[in-house]
Order: sequence, then structure tokens, then C-alpha cells
Amino acid sequence: MNTHEENINYLIPNMNSAKHHFYNDPETTIEMWLADMDFSICDAAKESLSKFIDNGDFGYGFIPNQYYESVLNWIKQYHNYGLEKSNIYVVPGVITAIYSIIYEFTEINDCVAFFSPTYHAFRDAVFDTGRNSLEIPLKEKEDYYEIDYSVFEELIKITHPKILIFNNPHNPTGTVFSVNDLQKMVTLAKKYNFLIISDEIHMDFVPCSKFESMINLFSNYSKIIVLTAPTKTFNIAGAKIANVIIGDFVIGKRFKERLKSYGIKTPNTIGISLTIVCYEKGSKWLKEVNRVIEDNYNYLLHEFGEFSDSIRIFKGEGTYFAWLKYLGAFL
Ligand SMILES: Cc1ncc(COP(=O)(O)O)c(C=O)c1O
Repeated sequence: MNTHEENINYLIPNMNSAKHHFYNDPETTIEMWLADMDFSICDAAKESLSKFIDNGDFGYGFIPNQYYESVLNWIKQYHNYGLEKSNIYVVPGVITAIYSIIYEFTEINDCVAFFSPTYHAFRDAVFDTGRNSLEIPLKEKEDYYEIDYSVFEELIKITHPKILIFNNPHNPTGTVFSVNDLQKMVTLAKKYNFLIISDEIHMDFVPCSKFESMINLFSNYSKIIVLTAPTKTFNIAGAKIANVIIGDFVIGKRFKERLKSYGIKTPNTIGISLTIVCYEKGSKWLKEVNRVIEDNYNYLLHEFGEFSDSIRIFKGEGTYFAWLKYLGAFL
């Protein structure tokens, strides 16, 4: 199926992960229901984990400077805003951050917006926190989705959301939003006074030259929170770690206090250690992974090409998912 496997290895399914545990039958089932890739982690991460285990110290952890440096160096590829260590808040996951932000910056029954189709966890987060959802439909084009700004503005005029949860690259459709999109969104956020959460967890599956981070708009608008993580990129979701990037000091302070109120204080040492090694030594592995994803996407286009009357495949600009639309009459 692909020709670039020299630096990456496929996982042998085992029951440690939720993905393989759920159906519990790797002989007969190909599990695709959860967003883990089928690659074993990079060799550098394996070696580092082995050393960690040999050392035998599993005490409470702290966040060393090296962690912040590795995160800042990594995201420097995507932004030109002068970020510092104090702009980074370490959390056990992007979704944990989203729930915390909703609780901190909205009241019960306030409206929280997101684009649809949506990553299901955004809808869950709004529902679970007792807020009202505003689903802003993306406009379906021939093989991609875009934001329809007149619909967007009409809806926010009526519902006055306090937050827009946005993800770029977009899960599930694979759209990567342009600089122009980000600017328009910020213009609307300023006009209608809502906070933007920009979940950029899939950013590493897009070439740097094609991806614009909301971090670059921090100087235009203070109410932006960017979420990143090494977990999708390096297939280490079980390490439960993510970074919340906040430009505004007051928003950052409120967010930190909110985390504290949940008792989220000391980090997961394995997550810290894996983040450092992946960001410092994982680039080559990631490049190979991205090649395989591209090959697989082309394979999909090729194999389904003859069924184009029945199945539409959307442009996979970002993420490792493919978004397909069933148009009927297949078999
Ligand atoms: C867009 C998006 N955000 C967040 C997550 C989950 O992040 P975390 O595991 O850090 O909570 C996923 C996982 O699939 C995702 O696709």
C-alpha cells in the first residue's frame, strides 16, 4: 500500500489501548473508530522511555525548562509571535482544557459555537457543561468545506455565543483554513465579543508553509486560546499531555486558577519526557508518517475513483482522517 516504511513500524494490536480493547478481536476486526494511528512510536521515544524505566524514578514530576524549550522550538515553525514560557500552560489533554475554558469563561446556559460537521467531543463538551450549542454549518463545496460568513454572522447575531471552538486543520473534514479565514473570524469575534478556542492538535500533518496558527493573531485580539499537543503527531495519546497557549496574561491567570480548582497541579512525568524527546528527535519519523498518510490518501482516491458517482472523497489537506460522503447506489 505504500513504499516509505523504512523509518516507521506498524503496531501489533494489543489490548492495552482502548482502540483495540473495544472490539477485542484483532483477528477479524480493523479498528478505525478511535483517532490513534497504527504506527508504533518513534525509536527515540522508545529508547527514552526505556531509560526512564531503568532509572526507576516514578515520583511526582515537575516541568523542566527543557520541556518549554522543546515546545517553543517546535511551534516556532508555525508562528512568528514572540511566545515565552509564561504563555504555555500544561494540561492532561486538549479536551480537559476545553471543558475548563468553558467552565471558566461562560455561565450555565450561555451559548458556545462550533462548526459542523464537528469533532464529536466539542458537542459533548458544550452539552456536558450545561451550555447551549450553536452549530454553524460549514458550506459543502465540490471536494472541500468552507466557512459561509453570512450564515456565520447571522447566527451569532441571534445567539451571541461567548466562545467559538474552532479546529484547524479541521477534524473531520480535513480542511485547512487560510490566513484570510482566521482574520475574518477574529474580526467577527471582536465585533460580537466572543473568545476563540483554536484547537490545532492536527497541525503537524500539514506542511508548515500551508498552515497558519491563530497564535499569529494574538497581537490583533487578546481573546484567543490555542491548543496544541504532541499526542496526535507522535501517536502518544495515552501520555495525556497538551499545551494551552495564551497570549493575554489575565486570561492565562484565570485559566490557571481554574485548573488549580480541579486539583490539576503536577504533570504526568511520562508525558513530559515523551513530549521532549518527540519534539527534539521525532521530526524524521513524522516526515515519514506524513508521506505514508499522503500515499494512503492517494491510494484511497485511486481505489474509490471508479465509484465517484456513489462516494465523494473530500480533500485531505490536514489530519490523517479521510472524509467521505456516501451519495447512494454503491453495490
Ligand atoms: C480535534 C481534536 N481535538 C482534541 C482531540 C483529543 O485531544 P486530547 O486527547 O488531548 O484530549 C482530538 C482527538 O481525536 C481531536 O481530533
